[in-house]
Amino acid sequence: MKFVSIIIGSKSDHEVMNECVKTLDKFGVLHELIISSAHRSPQRTHDYIKEAEAKGAKVFVAAAGMAAHLAGAVAANTTKPVIGVPMKGGAMDGMDALLSTVQMPSGIPVATVAIGKAGAVNAAYLAMQILALEDADLEAKLKEDRILKAKKVEIDSNEVEIRL
Ligand code: RP5
Repeated sequence: MKFVSIIIGSKSDHEVMNECVKTLDKFGVLHELIISSAHRSPQRTHDYIKEAEAKGAKVFVAAAGMAAHLAGAVAANTTKPVIGVPMKGGAMDGMDALLSTVQMPSGIPVATVAIGKAGAVNAAYLAMQILALEDADLEAKLKEDRILKAKKVEIDSNEVEIRL
């Protein structure tokens, strides 16, 4: 059973990361979400990654704020792709988490997406694009989604566009 594993550092990350869950749901992609912190519950984080891999996790999404080392800690414990989502909040409102997540030293990558909701949604899309490498049905759904997005631009444009 292949699925996307989502790990969030705190309950306070849940509302934003629910956008990731909703996006995966929209495409019928299996996922699970747990709260586990790199610094408050390091053992639980480590044990969960091993458990998730054994159950069939193919991609990990890790979301955290402030000195956001969760995605890096996840990446340290798996060779599956890890997508990091920097959370807003804290004194720097997400810039701290962005830099903490994106600046992994060479050899242990974290694919880092945008801060907050856009990142939560894009983490789902990126995870699905990875799964779609070996899933033609999912690839077709993602292509259809791009067609719908292009149509939406045309509809919006018809409403507001001014051309000479
Ligand atoms: C991080 O610190 C969490 O991922 C969260 O974004 C941030 C604040 O956590 P709480 O103090 O709200 O639990 O570990």
